[in-house]
Amino acid sequence: MTKHYLHTPKTTVSHLPEKGKISWESPSNIALIKYWGKKGLQLPRNASLSITLKDSVSLVEMDFKKSLQAGGSLDFFFEGKENRPFQERTNKYLKQLIPYFPFLKQLHLTVNSRNSFPHSAGIASSASSMSAFALCIGSLETFSPSVVSGDFLQKASYMARLGSGSATRSVYGNMAAWGQHPMLNDSSDLYAIPLNNTLASDFLNIRDAVVIVNSKPKPVSSSHGHTLMENHPLAENRIQQAGANFSKLLDAINNNDWPQFSRIVENEALSLHAMMLSSIPGFTLLQQETLDIIEAVQKFRETENIPLTFTLDAGPNVHLLYPQTYKDNIHAFIHNQIKPLTENGHIIYDRMGNGPVLKEMSPV
Ligand code: PMV
Repeated sequence: MTKHYLHTPKTTVSHLPEKGKISWESPSNIALIKYWGKKGLQLPRNASLSITLKDSVSLVEMDFKKSLQAGGSLDFFFEGKENRPFQERTNKYLKQLIPYFPFLKQLHLTVNSRNSFPHSAGIASSASSMSAFALCIGSLETFSPSVVSGDFLQKASYMARLGSGSATRSVYGNMAAWGQHPMLNDSSDLYAIPLNNTLASDFLNIRDAVVIVNSKPKPVSSSHGHTLMENHPLAENRIQQAGANFSKLLDAINNNDWPQFSRIVENEALSLHAMMLSSIPGFTLLQQETLDIIEAVQKFRETENIPLTFTLDAGPNVHLLYPQTYKDNIHAFIHNQIKPLTENGHIIYDRMGNGPVLKEMSPV
């Protein structure tokens, strides 16, 4: 069913102050069940599930002012500097949002975005920045007293989806699911939902060490990878596999079953890359060091019997997931065996976080 908030824009430009500032800090996320392949207007072909990170965040500061001639205009700065490609992408995105927020046509926006983590470091900056931007736009609407606040995050998630698929999940803390799945009644292809389960001990304080193998921009973008799923000979099997893995992963999380969690998460990472290899034309983003790290993790886990799991995004860098309790042993292993395989010893230590934070909202 289509949500009522998408059809009843209550806020008009008259509700907004002449000018003001809104800023949101929003985290990136790492998918456990991968979204790979889309349909229609940025809708996923399978349900995905992710961990929201804590310290890997984008801060989007948005100054707005009324301008009846603007037609919805935007100046975009990345880390204080003009950035043409980002400006064009955000401008295109802004135009897509106008039907949902008609008052945008009468505003001029100046947006400054910065990340707490280096660009191309294996952490999806589009997830954090697009979700932060969607939250800023959503907050503009709340200047009207008639807006129902309960829908706020869901609408922001819907809007974030239009900017970047994985951004859909970043508006919620801890774990979030995007895409319809029979195990989650409220799930939808249109927006993400928070996983409200009470997390058992291993998952409650889950950590993510992001191991940087290569920080250069990827030779094949995620958007191109998604399009290669359209005529992929194994696509239907992959969609079924993702659905079954989603169910098994939820069970593993609910039962505090790390070995099962590990099997599913690693299978998802390798299947994602297997889809890339078997696309037509095929490609790979994996590097020798990626494979060496995977092998070292598997060996360490077998010999030490310590829960440590790898996952991969669409790139060569490796995310290492582990329960907080084992951090001392695992950090020693990372230092001794993994660090030599990285680009300049680069590892980002992060963990699961509580989701986006409104930093400022004021008329000026
Ligand atoms: O959000 P996009 O279009 O960059 O696609 C993200 C795809 C993966 O990161 C590989 C998986 C996911 O679910 O985040």
